[in-house]
Amino acid sequence: METFDMVLNHDSPYRIRVERFKNFVDRTNLTPISDLIATHRISEKKFSSLKASLLSYFRKVTNQHSIEESNFESSEVFNTKNITPNGALVPKSEYEVEYNEALSAYYSIISDIFEDKSLFCKLHFPVNFRLKTGIPDPRNENRGLNTAIPHSDAWVGEESDGFNFYLPVLGDISRNRLRYYEIEEAELFGEDWLSPVASYNDHLEVIKQYRPNDSIIPKPGFLYISDFSIIHQTFLDTGAGNRISCDSGYWITDRITEVQDHEDRRNEYIFSIPQIPETHWVDCLVSENSPHGSKPSHFSHYTKSSIRLVTKDATDK
Ligand SMILES: [Fe+2]
Repeated sequence: METFDMVLNHDSPYRIRVERFKNFVDRTNLTPISDLIATHRISEKKFSSLKASLLSYFRKVTNQHSIEESNFESSEVFNTKNITPNGALVPKSEYEVEYNEALSAYYSIISDIFEDKSLFCKLHFPVNFRLKTGIPDPRNENRGLNTAIPHSDAWVGEESDGFNFYLPVLGDISRNRLRYYEIEEAELFGEDWLSPVASYNDHLEVIKQYRPNDSIIPKPGFLYISDFSIIHQTFLDTGAGNRISCDSGYWITDRITEVQDHEDRRNEYIFSIPQIPETHWVDCLVSENSPHGSKPSHFSHYTKSSIRLVTKDATDK
């Protein structure tokens, strides 16, 4: 693993991020794979449970009930009515139960990372369950927020000291993947590189400061955590099939920036990891035959007006 001791001032913005990330990794069960990327090995039982629940959810979202784990990778997805151009599988009232089961399996894994609750600050809710087809969705062409363009999640208005949590679950995980970039000259990094933009292409000068790092190929059974200063893109190697993955933003209590999230993202954060169905449940408010609901702007989440997180009263149990 490269060390920046020789090349960075101790108070450079990048160095501060590297040191903070190391402190975080040291206090968890994570394995570092670069200065700002680490992995969590998921227990086999929890990974199987997530796979089964996401496959079941996917069948409901697409109304394609013959899809199994064995034929998912090469299946054509005909019904994209409840899938956003970037591949998010949108929760609807007809499959609220399957959605909650998938959330339950996912957040159970997240809880294992934050056994030390004093590390955890907040998360963006809900996690995205995302389909990326082997043949890119034509609706996504020419979109400025196409995740195939190298980007930081801070560019869509998230507070810039967050971490991206990426968890590949089903399908062609090694060829239909998240591709990480590494910085060419860490000393040049400035926090303004992470400012929000209307289109990822508005940060082309920042993108030019990074190069692809193809030594990191995400593997099944692992969750990948990267600092927001790590640029990434969704990427298809030749012949890639479909995949489903989970992605979301997390913040730890060790904050290093005072940049606020975009006002259109307010109320999309929660301050404890939800225990579904024990203490939390997500009501899905919109039918599968209706549009997803309105969004104030591209900074808002697609579920903004279509779900409600309910905290159960102790008397419900
Ligand atoms: Fe991203």
